[in-house]
Amino acid sequence: MDVSRAVSVLRAGGLLVLPTETVYGLAADAEQRRAVARIYAVKGRPADHPLILHIAGIEALGHWVDLTAAPAYAGALASALWPGPLTLVLPRSNRVGDHVTGGQDTVAVRVPDHPIALAVLAAFDGAVAAPSANRFGHVSPTDVQHVIADIGDQLTDDDAVVDGGPCQVGVESTIVDCSGDRPRLLRPGWYGADDLVVAGGVPLDDEAPEPRPRVSGSMTSHYAPRAAVVLRSAEDLHPTPDDPVSGLLAPAGVETPTGWVRLSEPATSADYARVLYSALREADALELERVVAVLPSGDDGVVGAIRDRLTRASTDR
Ligand code: TXA
Ligand code: MG
Repeated sequence: MDVSRAVSVLRAGGLLVLPTETVYGLAADAEQRRAVARIYAVKGRPADHPLILHIAGIEALGHWVDLTAAPAYAGALASALWPGPLTLVLPRSNRVGDHVTGGQDTVAVRVPDHPIALAVLAAFDGAVAAPSANRFGHVSPTDVQHVIADIGDQLTDDDAVVDGGPCQVGVESTIVDCSGDRPRLLRPGWYGADDLVVAGGVPLDDEAPEPRPRVSGSMTSHYAPRAAVVLRSAEDLHPTPDDPVSGLLAPAGVETPTGWVRLSEPATSADYARVLYSALREADALELERVVAVLPSGDDGVVGAIRDRLTRASTDR
């Protein structure tokens, strides 16, 4: 798949499955209402869940965001952490339609740190709206095979799939609301609160985020496989004969109880994030009834993101 074909698909109003450093996106030209509407149809996503705009660089931000209304800390965050797994929610410009923002006066924007995504965005010279390329409510795709399994049957000859191999970060971007006096963390990702304070130069607003469908990823029972997910500490695995058929996702060094299937044994928290979603999908492929997850140690940003996603996946459905 060459960049020029990807760009012509976007220009013609088709959908493009695009790799990013976090997860695969399902992309459309943000200025074509009909193309964006198809994203919602293909994902089965409710229409009031706004999309993230992906742009080639910070220079393009002024087309999509009302910079006169943007706080200084947002510029600091963008300069320090873009391209990268960080999404900023900012006051939108007139060019951004309600079909992207769900009617809100803010827009979510990021510059992905992925060579293919950046090449496509630079050549396209616009913004692409892209959610994660999974069926609504399922775990995000970190490999092109996950995308094909979820939505492949709905793509047509007018669409295209770019295979960029496995995603290097593995969990969705950190989302920061930059519409107030202080940055507010809406969704943890590779970057956690400490990283944001350092890069933004101001303390975070730590009031609880308002209730929403504003952030679909903040709904409970999101990011969920079919198997039940339970969180355990490494000391608390105690297998019993009546255990459901169980898969174990745990850091290297944690032993697998007899009879359980080891889904992955990541050596670092970054490795853990990278394999997290494929391990959950693997559990479903193996028809396991339950995934027991042991969190990685440490308190860097990505450990917070892993805890967040596993907690949501474990919420009783
Ligand atoms: O890493 C990522 O962010 C991936 C890749 C493809 O870039 N994208 C992604 O998109 O995770 P999605 O649609 O699955 O999640 C985007 C989240 C949604 O929960 C949405 O509600 C929130 O961003 N969002 C978008 N616009 C917003 C806004 N104006 N205010 C608050 N939240 C917003
Ligand atoms: Mg998503």
